[in-house]
Amino acid sequence: ASIKEVLLHEVQPLERPPAAKVTVVGVGQVGMACAYSILQQGLIGELALVDCVEDKLKGELMDLQHGLAFTRPATIKASTDYAVTAGSHICVITAGCRQREGETRLSLVQRNVEIFSDIVPKLVKYSPHTLLLVVSNPVDVLTYVTWKLSGLPAERVIGSGTNLDSARFRFLLGEQLNLAPSNCHGWIVGEHGDSSVAVWSGVNVAGVTLSTLGPAAIEGELKWEEQIHRKVIESAYDIIKLKGYTSWAIGLSVMHIVQGALHNRRHVYALSTNCRGIHGIDADVFLSLPCVLGSHGITHVVKQNLNEVEVLQLQKSAKQLHEIQQSLKL
Ligand code: NAI
Ligand code: LAC
Repeated sequence: ASIKEVLLHEVQPLERPPAAKVTVVGVGQVGMACAYSILQQGLIGELALVDCVEDKLKGELMDLQHGLAFTRPATIKASTDYAVTAGSHICVITAGCRQREGETRLSLVQRNVEIFSDIVPKLVKYSPHTLLLVVSNPVDVLTYVTWKLSGLPAERVIGSGTNLDSARFRFLLGEQLNLAPSNCHGWIVGEHGDSSVAVWSGVNVAGVTLSTLGPAAIEGELKWEEQIHRKVIESAYDIIKLKGYTSWAIGLSVMHIVQGALHNRRHVYALSTNCRGIHGIDADVFLSLPCVLGSHGITHVVKQNLNEVEVLQLQKSAKQLHEIQQSLKL
């Protein structure tokens, strides 16, 4: 008799309910920060890890499995064979090259498009109903590329976008005002990167819009508007210079997005989505706007009252990314 038969008297076969399954592709710094955060939150029944480097994959699998005594029940699997991803509700794509010190996100595009050309069709083959959550950079262009390669409807192909930038923005606002970031409401939209747009007209605490506090109140600090947004744009470069990469905040932000989708929360996130027809953008370009996220993807985009400068900045980013997309060999 097996140990299980000796130890346990079966009353009925253990049927595992179709628990939520999430795949993370790329077990590098970002992928493992995402995987750890998702596991730690107890969001899933099954976590699948994929990478092209077998030893690293096996090591990360074992190391994470050894933590299961401290988490809610979950099964963790890993393989270089995409069959392990079958039936995923969400596939998080973090595979690819990252910026070296001083390098821009856009400089990664050709290398990562090639990698995505291999990954995306395999994910869709095994999970045709999945949401695809793109994290690798340049995330907006790669979300467009994933949409084209996957053949999935745009609402199910999402980029982590400026969800991270907005979190950085809110942290810095909270530092400035000595308030919890969760109560400092502010949105960064557009490109996850050097041309992101801070929607200052919407920055508010408890509904009090800071820009209405009168020039006297914020004149002396008005430049901190620029300082805070400038710090957000520079933060990745600063962190990469210091530790070589960024990982924890993106891991936590991806966990929050995954949580919102799996629980059909209809929470509003700054996510990279197809902006055609919004704010005068007339091409298939993915940029971040406030999106309502449900279990089957993006259901709505919030129509922000952007001022003329903000709209022009968005359109300029869209034009730049569209030109890059046109040059890609997909
Ligand atoms: P990393 O080098 O630590 O990990 C990348 C992983 O991808 C490696 O394990 C590598 O083996 C794997 N990989 C490469 N080619 C692959 C393929 N064809 N199939 C499967 N796996 C493959 O890099 P890190 O720091 O994890 O960054 C990953 C990506 O995430 C980069 O593009 C980086 O720029 C991006 N990133 C995006 C952020 C965002 O806010 N959107 C924030 C931070 C990083
Ligand atoms: C960031 C870069 C790496 O952390 O995308 O924002």
